[in-house]
Amino acid sequence: MPAMFRTVERTAGGVRLLDQRRLPGEACYVECRTPREVVEAMRAMVVRGAPAIGVAAAYALAMGASGERSRSAADFARGWAEICATVEAARPTAVNLRWAVRRMDRVARDLLEGGVAVDEVVRRLEAEAASIEAEDLAACRAIGRHGADLVPDGATVLTHCNAGGLATAGYGTALGVVRGAVEAGRRLRVLADETRPLLQGARLTAWELMQDGIETVVIVDGAAGSLMQRGEVQLVVVGADRIAANGDVANKIGTYPLAVLAREHGIPFYVAAPLSTFDPHCPDGAGIPIEQRDPDEVVSFSGQRVAPPGVGVFNPAFDVTPARLISAIVTDRGVARPPLAAALAAQLATVGASPTDASPTERP
Ligand code: MRU
Repeated sequence: MPAMFRTVERTAGGVRLLDQRRLPGEACYVECRTPREVVEAMRAMVVRGAPAIGVAAAYALAMGASGERSRSAADFARGWAEICATVEAARPTAVNLRWAVRRMDRVARDLLEGGVAVDEVVRRLEAEAASIEAEDLAACRAIGRHGADLVPDGATVLTHCNAGGLATAGYGTALGVVRGAVEAGRRLRVLADETRPLLQGARLTAWELMQDGIETVVIVDGAAGSLMQRGEVQLVVVGADRIAANGDVANKIGTYPLAVLAREHGIPFYVAAPLSTFDPHCPDGAGIPIEQRDPDEVVSFSGQRVAPPGVGVFNPAFDVTPARLISAIVTDRGVARPPLAAALAAQLATVGASPTDASPTERP
């Protein structure tokens, strides 16, 4: 049932990324040979989506460690710290990136402090990165199972950006809910916001859902309100780049207005994300850093300049939806309903210390 493509893969010589800039026109790959090349690929949106960049970061670190394997433990530790800092700085908003770096870093430090040989440290880092990928796929499938019952039979589901298999290790978060509902026998149709300026909805969400034979209709971002007003949307489900302790959610720019519209029209607004997207160290959305991207993304279309030279441009990649507008957050642990702060804290408690401690706001 889910589209079978690998977004991120560790190869013998590097990290292979499905080039999402070229979809849906062609499915081709970029082979990165250094951690810095992976960082550049993240910034260029070859690989994008919070969980997918977490997986790419983990493999970038494994590759970087492998390149340092012939060094002494002290030199390895110095090189490792530099690689971690470089990868962590790739994009600021999606906390999965820092979560993955921190998790890998903890493995390396514990082993080095325990006197484990560099070769063995490298082997364990490769295994940890593979676990991060496998766990993300499992988390997405769990999100699909937990979220399936939120989708009534015959529903039209509105989504924004791409929170699908392409944005994760596979299956997806928001699209995981869609896939879970289809697997549970629901008939549904998806409205995919085109998602200006980089068109992740029109290009990526439409591409991967059509591969699965799920009915998909692309709309311009501004059409959502009118469709809700006409009773043509039964629920909204989106992904997340970072969820603060109080349940505020950062996601692709244009998510917040959808939540406002959904509230106005009495439509449930759901967020789907694995626990690796939680940042319990960030008390609320005001503390989430928002990536500002190149103005050219807004004033150019298909390589053609569409706005007058010299005009001002505001191009934030993400916005923050306040917890009070969110009907529920579907995670790999279940469905968290308001009050979200308490529900999320309870879910985090069930997994012990790992997600909490692995996603600090700062590295020591
Ligand atoms: O800038 P992008 O394409 O990386 O933004 C992606 C999103 O906003 C997704 O909705 C989010 O990362 C969740 S992906 C499961």
